[in-house]
Formats: sequence, C-alpha cells, structure tokens
Amino acid sequence: MADKMKRSKSNRVIVLALAICVAAFFLAACGKKSAKKGEQKILLGFSQIGAESAWRLGNTNDMEEKAEEYGINLMYENANQKQENQIAAIRRFIAYKVDVIVFSPIVEDGWDNVLMEAKEANIPVILVDRDINTDREDLTACLIGADFYEEGRKAGEYLIRKADALGLEEVNIVEISGTENSTPMMQRQAGFKDAIDGDQRMHILESIDGDFLKSRGAECMRILLDKYGDKIDVVYSHNDEMTLGALPEIEKAGFQPGKDMIIISIDGGQEAIDVLKSGKINCVVECTPKLGKEVMETAIKLKNGEQVESVIHPEEQVFSDEQDLSNLAPRGY
Ligand code: AHR
Repeated sequence: MADKMKRSKSNRVIVLALAICVAAFFLAACGKKSAKKGEQKILLGFSQIGAESAWRLGNTNDMEEKAEEYGINLMYENANQKQENQIAAIRRFIAYKVDVIVFSPIVEDGWDNVLMEAKEANIPVILVDRDINTDREDLTACLIGADFYEEGRKAGEYLIRKADALGLEEVNIVEISGTENSTPMMQRQAGFKDAIDGDQRMHILESIDGDFLKSRGAECMRILLDKYGDKIDVVYSHNDEMTLGALPEIEKAGFQPGKDMIIISIDGGQEAIDVLKSGKINCVVECTPKLGKEVMETAIKLKNGEQVESVIHPEEQVFSDEQDLSNLAPRGY
C-alpha cells in the first residue's frame, strides 16, 4: 500500500516535470519566433532630393506612411537639393548595411561610382521618381515613377485642343522648365515638343530654367514678361510650384492668367487645383507623389530575392477647364 502511494506520488512528479519541460519548450520557441520576426524587419535607406515643392513633401509623407504600414524601418535622409549630399547619404546607407536603398536622383548623370559600391555590398537599389543616365543596366533593380514624357505630351495635346477651341492662329509659348539634367525636365520638354511639333501655329519663344522652385518661377516669369510682354500666349510650367510663383508676376504686369495667357502646369497639388478651379490656371497634368506602396512592396520582394518589374509607372490624369471639377476629391498633397 505504502509502495503504491510512493509510485503514484513519483508519477505525479514526473508528469509535472514533463509539463514544465513542454511549457518551457513552447516559451522558448515563441521567444525565438518573435526575435526572428524582429530580425527580419527590413531596413530601407531613403535618400530624398529635398523639400522644394508640395509634391516633394507629399512624396516624403507617403513614403513614411507606407513604410510604417508595411512594417519597414525607414532611414530617411534629406539632400537639400545637392547631389553630393545624396551620394554621401548612399555611402552611409552602405556602411550601415541597410537591406535596400531607395533614392530619387536630383539629376541623371554622375551616379555610377556610388552605385557600384552598393552593388559590391550586395544592396539592391530602387530608383524612385527620377531616372539616372548610365551604361550599366545592372546597377539598379528598377525605377518606380511617373512617365514624364507622357505628362509633357498630355500638356501639348491639351494646348492644341485649347487653341482649336479659341480659334487661335498663332500661339507663342514660354516654357519654365524644371532642374536642368533631371528626368522630369528633359522628358516633359521632349513630350510637349513632340505633341505640338506638327502644329504650325505653335512657337516656343524661350525655355528658361526655373529649377522646380516657386521663387525661381517668379524670377523667370519677370524675365520673360520683360522680354516678350503681350506676345506671350501660353506659359507652360514644369511644376505647380513654379506656376504658383509665376502667376502673381503675370498679374502685376497687368495680364489675367487663364484668360490673357493660357497657363499649363504639372503635378496636381491641392493649391494648384484650387487655382485651376478659380480660372487662373487652365490645365494641370497630374504627376502623383504617391509612390510609397509600390516602393515598399518592391523592397520586400527584393529582400526575398524575388524578381521585380524593371519600370513601374503610376496611372495619371489631366485636370483642366474642359471638365467639371466640383466633385474632385481632396488631393492630399
Ligand atoms: O520629380 C518630380 C518633380 O519634382 C515634381 O513635378 C516637382 O514638383 C518636384 O519637385
């Protein structure tokens, strides 16, 4: 009897010990799993051009929001409009051993050396917004950004429709262009030129570099008004910021933007859309800054060693005085 009691007591001890072991095993396994998950969180180095426009701020916000949504750690660097700052930022990302580098190149030339360093460190690079000029296709994984050529073409096509509607026989255009040697500047210029090329009424009086900045937009407009005055029929500006800088100068010179001069802009930020609705801008070609979702999804694929598409363009529209814009949703930038 005493033996039986002893055995059942020792059986209980064994069962208890086993239960403790199983619990300990599960706890350890769980702990390991969450540590592993933590270790796998992607670290993304993002070199942004600067804060020159509402578009750029909207793009930075979207990248930050989407990184959080996708559980990605974002190392953000603002280059303050300087290529050398972007190169230094990319070098810091390499030294930090980030998983993926994303950058929006201010201009197209001059990236090969630093991108070769990223390649040697086995860090994939995503170009966001703008492209680079290189003979080495293997330096970057892909480009996620607008089709700037198409935007320029849409601007030119709008102008032809507007000139037809107004019955214009001669159309004198001034162009305020974006940062020299940047993708949007070159492509928006080429697309616009190609669209109006076959139309004998169209003449580009001058193209002037406004660097995508509001202050430069105003300065360029003053120069153009001094030179050409009432000869100007159209202002084609490569972004909203420069357009918003140019409009008060046109008014100060005694002209009514949107009536005496046709105003065409690119981006589609809220302020420009409001001015379009007020009649001082005639057409805004959309360029969306909301590229974060595609960037995060692509970064995850690259980290997992999956193939990605080499070029991803977002869908974009045209807003103009040809449409009823009263129900247009808030732009969010
Ligand atoms: O690269 C996109 C362009 O850069 C946007 O049109 C402009 O507003 C920005 O500064």
